[in-house]
Amino acid sequence: SDSDSSAGADGDSGNGSITMGFAQVGAESGWRSANTKSIEDSAKEAGIDLKFSDAQQKQENQIKAIRSYIQQKVDVIAFSPVVETGWDTVLQEAKRANIPVILTDRAVDSEDTSLYKTFLGSDFVEEGQKAGQWLVDNAADSDVDGDGDIDVVQLEGTTGAAPAIDRGEGFADAISADPKISVIASQTGDFTRDGGKQVMESFLQSEKGIDVVFAHNDDMGLGAIEAIKAAGLTPGKDIKIITVDAVKDGMTALAAGEINYIVECNPLLGPQLMDLAEKVVAGEDVPERVVTEETTFDQEQAAEALPTREY
Ligand code: AHR
Repeated sequence: SDSDSSAGADGDSGNGSITMGFAQVGAESGWRSANTKSIEDSAKEAGIDLKFSDAQQKQENQIKAIRSYIQQKVDVIAFSPVVETGWDTVLQEAKRANIPVILTDRAVDSEDTSLYKTFLGSDFVEEGQKAGQWLVDNAADSDVDGDGDIDVVQLEGTTGAAPAIDRGEGFADAISADPKISVIASQTGDFTRDGGKQVMESFLQSEKGIDVVFAHNDDMGLGAIEAIKAAGLTPGKDIKIITVDAVKDGMTALAAGEINYIVECNPLLGPQLMDLAEKVVAGEDVPERVVTEETTFDQEQAAEALPTREY
């Protein structure tokens, strides 16, 4: 909010407080909103002056935001890269300006790991594996049309984004254990509810005998539920649904029987991020990789967890 003020002038030194520039992906999902709130709340709590920008899911906007943080001479830059590739140039600029960078939530695909200090976030491959493993374990029940095959349609996250690539890989890896399970169609819904709904509508027209939807996040799964209902089918029964995130709307649908299984992805990264930022700015060593702890939920577990779910 004070991005026009003279933060660069008295800047970082003055009262000893840290200025962080954070370049967020956007506001595409319930997960992202919870993540943004966590970052804002914990910056306040830690007394860190946060400059925040929303890139509306566009890499060029994130690059612009990072360049402006470099110009403002912030103490530390954190960002959640919308896609994996194409970051080397801007990260070299930050390095030349001696501003440490922390990757938050999503990784970059760069050979030069000196371009960032640490990467805080989930293991997305493992999330995809957990989703696939549930299907392998529940294969018999998931052959809804009883034709002997479990036909899956996949709603992918943003093309080129780490969670889309890795969840797809992890899922494919896990289901390869059972030759009856196969992904018959796969398309991006850009991690949004609308995207999930539209892609599911077209799958329902183009594909026969869909047994299962694997959506790379809750929002796309919730969009798919709308499309399935509009087609006169019952989500969770006529078509099984597996998603990732476990935000409140997803958990509510899971507890209501409209989703069958959710793999948790924890958006509450703020406290750990502020902690890492303080250390990095103080020149202390930090681990190269900090992996978030997460769990999974079936329908009963969702009903139990819902009343105390924060987001
Ligand atoms: O990078 C994390 C993913 O981004 C979440 O799973 C998804 O909901 C969000 O948009």
